[in-house]
Amino acid sequence: MSASPPASPLHGQRILLCVGGGIAAYKSLELVRRLREAGAQVQVAMTAGAQQFVTPLSFQALSGQPTRTTLWDDGAEQAMGHLELARWADRVVVAPATADLLARLAHGMADDLVATLCLATEAPLTLCPAMNHRMWRHPATQANVAVLAQRGAQVLGPEDGPLAEGESGPGRLTEPAAIVAALAGAAAPADPGDGALAGLKVVVSAGPTYEDLDPVRYLGNRSSGKMGFAVAASAARRGAEVVLVAGPVSLPTPPGVRRVDVRSAAQMREAVFAAFPADLYIGAAAVADYTPREPAANKIKKSSESLALDLVRTPDILAEVAAQTTHGLKLVVGFAAETEKVAEYARGKLAAKRLDMIVANRVGIADGGFESDTNAMTAYWKDGERAFPSAPKTRLADALVDLIAERLQA
Ligand code: PMT
Repeated sequence: MSASPPASPLHGQRILLCVGGGIAAYKSLELVRRLREAGAQVQVAMTAGAQQFVTPLSFQALSGQPTRTTLWDDGAEQAMGHLELARWADRVVVAPATADLLARLAHGMADDLVATLCLATEAPLTLCPAMNHRMWRHPATQANVAVLAQRGAQVLGPEDGPLAEGESGPGRLTEPAAIVAALAGAAAPADPGDGALAGLKVVVSAGPTYEDLDPVRYLGNRSSGKMGFAVAASAARRGAEVVLVAGPVSLPTPPGVRRVDVRSAAQMREAVFAAFPADLYIGAAAVADYTPREPAANKIKKSSESLALDLVRTPDILAEVAAQTTHGLKLVVGFAAETEKVAEYARGKLAAKRLDMIVANRVGIADGGFESDTNAMTAYWKDGERAFPSAPKTRLADALVDLIAERLQA
């Protein structure tokens, strides 16, 4: 007798899909189909712009529910008022979330049905942006997304690639399958952990380093430590003995983790090697590449119009860890923080530092990389790769640690 597959965490979930007016609206039809396949109940609301691209009837046929298009439909309001619909939802998904819609949501507008539903609901909000890449990169759009993410919205995408207008860049709607996977991840009960790393010792680095210029100033970066702390927590939940070497951050120590606080790259190197021998090293810290040759003993005075800093390279901790052979390491994993050519540069670091795996993420964007609670990343190893679409860092850490446990067996 074969066991039936476990139900998707989306089974029985009530999803309100709000469709914005962009060419990617056609992909939202597939999203409805996939959500229903996962067992979710779906109701659809469309903006006026969305109806220029896809008809309400198409969504109605796929969702099995009347599509809502306006606040001023007496019949629809009598069947289920818009406030009732906003309450009905377990989760609201906006796909595609256009630049205009993001702006209206960021400003709390209620000038059409979709914006009103998003304002009225208390359900968690998932935004799937899609637009021209220049509109996406515009500071106004980035600021709007940052505000919405700060208020707790989950932001999925956009993906990088060819766009409908013949250009290329970040602006593509995240594929429906990846959206459904991320929603399932968000709906799943918190992972209680397993014994996948039992008996192994893991050293994780996290956070920034500060390189002192003088007694009051330093060179630092925007790493918050969230990604590395989430990885350390996940490894501990999977039974590993974890040492977390943390740069200056204000995060609580995850349960079951031994934390060593450091400030500079040199101190981080010393703490990492002091924690060996270990089975795994995961370098999630944003280590400074340069440090002042001689920090000034006293506060540097404002004496001339310009100031040149004399900086020297810091030790490359990750490369040094990967090169050593005496500490019994089974796997060395680095991170790559890039603002462009993410895959190319990450693969370059994988080879140059002789790593077992590198996890690449885009930084310098509103909803991912440094500081943000969410991230999107791709892990590369010699003959493979795995993409992790945008999700909370805690969930990404679980997925990454699962992959690491898998690669240990490879
Ligand atoms: O901390 P958060 O706000 O959550 O942000 C997470 C993050 C963006 C910092 C994280 O996901 C990340 O990408 N960490 C690596 C940042 C980085 O320094 O990338 P890099 O491409 O410059 O360095 C590549 C690798 O070499 C990293 O594993 C780094 O730890 C390591 N390195 C770099 C320089 C150095 N002197 N020693 C090192 O060990």
